[in-house]
Amino acid sequence: MSKKGDKEAEEFEPDKGSEAQIAVHWREEGYFFPSAKFIGQANANDPSILERFSEKNYPECFKEYADLLTWDKYWHTTLDTSNAPFWKWFVGGRLNASYNCVDRHLKTDRNKAAIIWVPELEEQDTEVITYQELYCRVNEFAALLKGFCGVETGDVATFHLPMVPDLPVAMLACARLGVIHSQVFGGFSGSACGGRIADSKSKILVTIDGYYRNGELQDHKVKADEAVARALEDGVVVEKVLVFRRNPGEYASKSPMVEGRDFFVDEIMPEYKGKLVDPVSMPAEAPLFIMYSSGTTGKPKGCQHSTGGYLSYVTGTSKYYQDIHPNDTYWCAADIGWITGHSYIVYGPLALGTTTVMYEGIPTYPDAGRMWRIAERLGVTQFHTAPTTIRTLRKVGPNEPAKYNYHFKHMTTVGEPIEPDVWRWYHEVVGKGEAVIVDTWWQTENGGFLGSTLPALNAMKPGSCGPAVIGIFPEILDENGDVVEAGSGHAGNICIRNPWPGIFQTIWGDPDRFVKTYYEKYNKDPKSTDWHDWPYFANDGAMQAKDGYYRILGRVDDVINVSGHRLGTKELESAALMVEEVAEAAAVPVVDELRGHAVEMYIAVKPGVDPNVDVAAKVTKMIESEIGKIARPKNVWIVADMPKTRSGKIMRRVIASISNFTDVGDITTLANPDVVTDIKHYVESEKVAAGELPRDLSSAELQSILNFGSEE
Ligand code: WTA
Repeated sequence: MSKKGDKEAEEFEPDKGSEAQIAVHWREEGYFFPSAKFIGQANANDPSILERFSEKNYPECFKEYADLLTWDKYWHTTLDTSNAPFWKWFVGGRLNASYNCVDRHLKTDRNKAAIIWVPELEEQDTEVITYQELYCRVNEFAALLKGFCGVETGDVATFHLPMVPDLPVAMLACARLGVIHSQVFGGFSGSACGGRIADSKSKILVTIDGYYRNGELQDHKVKADEAVARALEDGVVVEKVLVFRRNPGEYASKSPMVEGRDFFVDEIMPEYKGKLVDPVSMPAEAPLFIMYSSGTTGKPKGCQHSTGGYLSYVTGTSKYYQDIHPNDTYWCAADIGWITGHSYIVYGPLALGTTTVMYEGIPTYPDAGRMWRIAERLGVTQFHTAPTTIRTLRKVGPNEPAKYNYHFKHMTTVGEPIEPDVWRWYHEVVGKGEAVIVDTWWQTENGGFLGSTLPALNAMKPGSCGPAVIGIFPEILDENGDVVEAGSGHAGNICIRNPWPGIFQTIWGDPDRFVKTYYEKYNKDPKSTDWHDWPYFANDGAMQAKDGYYRILGRVDDVINVSGHRLGTKELESAALMVEEVAEAAAVPVVDELRGHAVEMYIAVKPGVDPNVDVAAKVTKMIESEIGKIARPKNVWIVADMPKTRSGKIMRRVIASISNFTDVGDITTLANPDVVTDIKHYVESEKVAAGELPRDLSSAELQSILNFGSEE
């Protein structure tokens, strides 16, 4: 790229050449450049890094990431492909993730803040946990897990925790013991948590009595009871439920503590105070954690991440892409219950020995200035969030950032495509024109970033994540497996040609599904042990512009991205079908001003259902209790019949178009084309009456709807 140490961001003429070839009227945005000040201090400001990670140096280039860690035993083989596509990284090596994130920093940084935790209530004190304090807490909790719960290396422990410091402590305590943690997003329902407990066969559940959300103390422990009951339905017995208390000495839940099963951590902790537990030296290939994510069909997939490969990858990408230095105050405002929080709140920043900020609550509590007050007070240097939050903050307080005296050097957007207009507000207003932005594209399965600009070396282009990150070699393939010409601006399925250390190892307990979902589509030879034959199918549509930058168009499978969170249509539909009146259910995405997409449900009821029953309300309630409030549908439409193919498959694409006021396309092949007109009339008039008016969708939004729905 052209390096320009300018003070102000500068826009370039859009690239007319490629624009003409793009099927859906893309407008190529102009470039923005990092400041000289940023470039001067950046970890990656020497272009030789691009050469070091070029394909000819693959896979050995990743030694550079692994060398950021402290190994008990050095590995002998960087990449072993003998059991493709179950890649093994840094084979022969041994290390401990907790040692790498905590112990090794004690010598020089004992009393530096490791975690700064900001409670939601402003009147409560911010908690600063130094590396020494973190070391003590991690050891004590590890001692408790081992001594009181009897967990052993290789066991799984499930957490259902909100954004409290006990969460990273518990993760690192497991890592210390070689126990695999499985954190379930705190906002998920008890039932959703229970399903994940059952799938992972974990005997321990770590939870909390309550936490603050929008100023109110939520009863969280009640979900533990539901989770345990749900796991039992699948034959998995949770032996112990450990309950932290949000406010010491109080109990925020109405749910009774079950004798012999439920224990307050503060009551059993005294026995383990001051105890130390040696970090267990784990093989690089030992699983570090499981993170559940929604997929095309059926139940959520437990993405199993490794210790050595994963930790190397998040540490390397945190250093070069998050530009983390030891003296930064880095704030990733994601939830640790998602992969972003695992990689870029906990493991990456702590492995690099920096200060990582955690915030308990919602961004707008108690007012639109909250985030910026936190940034000012803590002197935050990097800020990391999702487009949905940026949109919300812009809506509620477009001029708030200017009122606070903070200065970010670097900002991240992640989780869904960001509209160029929103990107510009982020840059100009939140970043005060000073901060460089990285738009990082990746997935739960990937461990760390796949697409992003290198902040000091590549220009930024709003709406594009940028080139692939170093050591990642993508290609866009069409449905036949043919390569879409690089830089042609034509859309296709983005794939990664090569394995990388952060890639998940398998789907927990379901290796066949792993191969089928991610590799079968484009595999050239199922017996091959050559990685070139195994492109990783990301399930995202993308196009590459002439400058090599990728624009991610959204999921090509039946996953709805709500506020950057993946919800499977199958999970939503199964929940709806649990309502006794429901005969058929279909979930579709609808473009939403703040959340990116929201869910709409279409329901056909069984014959003879009492018209007085509010089926829509029952469906909403069931979805909330089966999945969680984040999945709450924006609308539930009760229809006489679903548009179907002649073989009886529901045409989700057609109803998605109706929900979004877009053209339903060719429906002549349907078994019942007439219902389309009826549904369209009904839904559109209801929407208009409710003030939900049609608006012009951007090409990215339109594409996300057109892409939607394998038809079944
Ligand atoms: C989408 C989150 C556009 C994408 C880390 C992907 C994005 C899914 C971006 C993964 C981005 C993530 N631009 N789309 N910068 N980042 N996505 O597993 O569709 O929760 O497949 O991981 O989010 O979501 P997940």
